[in-house]
Amino acid sequence: MKPDPTRVAQANNVVSLSPEAISRAVELLRQGQVVGMPTETVYGLAGDGLNPTALARIFEVKQRPFFDPLILHFADEAGAFAVAENVPETARELGRRFWPGPLTLVLRKKEMVPDLATSGMPSVALRVPSHPVAQALLRAFGGPLAAPSANRFGRISPTDAQAVRAELGDAVPLILDGGPCAVGLESTVLLLSERQPLLLRAGGIPVEEIEALVGPVQRATPVEDRPLSPGQLKHHYAPRKPLRLVRHASEVPSQADAGWLAFGNPPTLASFAGVVENISPGGDLREAAANFFRAMRQLDENERVTTLYAVPLPAWGLGLAINERLERAAG
Ligand code: TXA
Ligand code: MG
Repeated sequence: MKPDPTRVAQANNVVSLSPEAISRAVELLRQGQVVGMPTETVYGLAGDGLNPTALARIFEVKQRPFFDPLILHFADEAGAFAVAENVPETARELGRRFWPGPLTLVLRKKEMVPDLATSGMPSVALRVPSHPVAQALLRAFGGPLAAPSANRFGRISPTDAQAVRAELGDAVPLILDGGPCAVGLESTVLLLSERQPLLLRAGGIPVEEIEALVGPVQRATPVEDRPLSPGQLKHHYAPRKPLRLVRHASEVPSQADAGWLAFGNPPTLASFAGVVENISPGGDLREAAANFFRAMRQLDENERVTTLYAVPLPAWGLGLAINERLERAAG
C-alpha cells in the first residue's frame, strides 16, 4: 500500500511525550498559543491561565460562549490554593486526599486571576491533574494552565489524541499524545463556600467518596436559563446523530441502523441486529466510564448507524456521572 501523504501531514501536530515535545509545548504556551494536553479524565485544550490573549484563543478554538468559565490546572496543591482567597479547611482536606486527581474545587478567586478565566465570576475552578504528561507540562511551564475539554462546545469530550485531532484539526498547533484517558469522564466539580459543599458536576470522583471525607454534599439542580455552573446546560456532550435513552434493554429496537451503547450483558444483546459498543460487558462502572465517550464517538462515526440507544446505568458511583452525561447527550 502506498503511503497517503495527506494522512501523514494531518497527523503532524500529534506528538508523543519527549523532552523536545514538552519544550515545544511550553514555547507555544508562552506565545499565547493553545496546546492539546492529555489528562487522566479527558484531553484538555491548554493555554496560559494568566494570559487573557491565550484565554481568548481557547474560547475561539472551542467556539465556546464567554459566559462559560474555565478550569485552571496546577502541578500541585500549593500552586492551586495560591490563587484562591480564604481557602476553607474542607478544601485543604479534599486536596490532600484527591489531588492529584479528577476533582475540581471552586473557590473565591484572587485578583490576579483574569476575568476571562472565570467569565467575570468572583470564583475560580482549580484542579491538579495526575496524568504524567499534564504534570510534566505544568512543571515545565511553571504556571497555571486553563484547560477546558478539547472538543467544540457542546460536543463529545475527547479521550484520546486522535479524537482531539478530529475535533479541532489544524486550529491546534500541537497535541501531546498521552494515550487513552484512564478515567474517561471529566472531573467532579465541587463549589466550596461558607455553606455546605455543592456538587456542580458529577465526575471522575464519585460523590459518595467525597461525602465519606467531608460529610453531606448538596446536589445542584440544573436550571436551563441561569445554571449555577454555566457549563451545565441541558444539551451537552452531544453526538451528531440522535441519542435515545430508553428505560430497559428490551426497548432498544433490533434494527440494522440502531447503535447500542450497551453495558453489562442484557439477554436481548445476543440477538440484536444493529451495531453494539459495549462499554463494560462485565458491568464494571469504572471500565464503563473509561470507555464511554470513545464508544459514543464510534457509534456516531459508524456509517451504518442512524440512531444511538442507551439505557441508564446503575445510579451510584460513576454510574451517576455517566447518566448525567447520557441525559445531556440525549438533550
Ligand atoms: O476533567 C476536567 O475537568 C477537564 C480536564 C481537561 O481537566 N476539563 C473540563 O473543563 O471538563 P470544561 O471547561 O469542559 O468544564 C468545566 C466546568 C464547566 O461546567 C464550567 O461551567 C465549570 O466547570 N466551572 C468553571 N469555573 C467555574 C466557576 N467559577 N463556578 C462554577 N462552575 C465553574
Ligand atoms: Mg467540556
